[in-house]
Amino acid sequence: MIKEQLESIVSEVQVRCPELKTRVEFDAYKSTISGPKGQLTEVMKLMGSVPKEDRPVMGKSINEAKQQIQSVMEVALARIEDSELLAQLGPSIDPSLPSPDLSQGTIHPIAQVRDSVVDLFHRIGFAVAEGSELETEYYCFDALNIPADHPARDMQDSYFMPESCEISNVSKFGDERYLLRTHTSSVQIRTLLKEKPPIRIIAPGRCFRRDTPDATHSANFHQIEGLYVDEQVSLIDLKSTLDYFVKGIFGAKAKTRLRPSFFPFTEPSFEMDFYSPDLGKLSHQWIEIMGCGMVDPEVFKSVELDPEIYSGFAFGMGIERIAMILQGVDDIRYYYQNDIRFLRQFTESVS
Ligand code: PHE
Repeated sequence: MIKEQLESIVSEVQVRCPELKTRVEFDAYKSTISGPKGQLTEVMKLMGSVPKEDRPVMGKSINEAKQQIQSVMEVALARIEDSELLAQLGPSIDPSLPSPDLSQGTIHPIAQVRDSVVDLFHRIGFAVAEGSELETEYYCFDALNIPADHPARDMQDSYFMPESCEISNVSKFGDERYLLRTHTSSVQIRTLLKEKPPIRIIAPGRCFRRDTPDATHSANFHQIEGLYVDEQVSLIDLKSTLDYFVKGIFGAKAKTRLRPSFFPFTEPSFEMDFYSPDLGKLSHQWIEIMGCGMVDPEVFKSVELDPEIYSGFAFGMGIERIAMILQGVDDIRYYYQNDIRFLRQFTESVS
């Protein structure tokens, strides 16, 4: 009789346990078996009424039933705990898959302008040249015929490195000082020393000058340098190249004007103004955007090219200035604040 009861409890436990889904259900069910009023507990209470000689056999049956019940319950509990843990962890993921958040960055407005200028020059055979942002006084000034008493060479006007500083990947000419380049014109010298004419390069990059930041000045800004050196390069080549550039950037109706100016490394030197009828508020006025000129014979001498054979033109412009005109931005500082509300207005997806 007790034996049958035990067998039926065991088989019920074997059927019910795999059906239990949660820890709460499991605990509730377990107490109906082994709790104070549980089925197994009730059976054990019957032991008192079993004749003495039958007790060992009965005891053994009870123990066996208990063990069976316990192992079935352990399996059920482990299964429930596993599934509860999985539920907490969420669905399984493959960390090697691309992120489902597809919001990509966009090209910075300054980089957009840089890329379109570079692209225009690329089409007429100019290759991109890069120099380093850290330069030496020789490549930034001396080789460009900039005299020792020029204000940019004053400690107060440029960012000089401490005298003790040695930078292994920026070669020096003698024992001159290092500084952060004040213009991209240093790339002219580095290129002329490395390559043989014909040379056609465009060199975009970051420059540094001591400046108090305001709506049109930043101590860190970007320039694009251009250099064309070959035999018989003339002012007509410069003028027509600039016409092509200005039409490409500011529209087919844009015009250029060269005004006499002075740079130690070009002779003659000019400021180039452009005029466009399609420029909103800035239409119908001459706007200055770059310095340019024919490469000065002194520059050819410092790179050991014969100025009787070679000639060339060079130009340099500030990218921010062109960006501000094109994008209608009236304060240069917006470009460096990384305010997403500003940047989003110039979205152009990454290609
Ligand atoms: N380097 C000059 C500047 O920063 C610009 C320039 C470049 C002028 C090349 C002439 C030729 O102002």
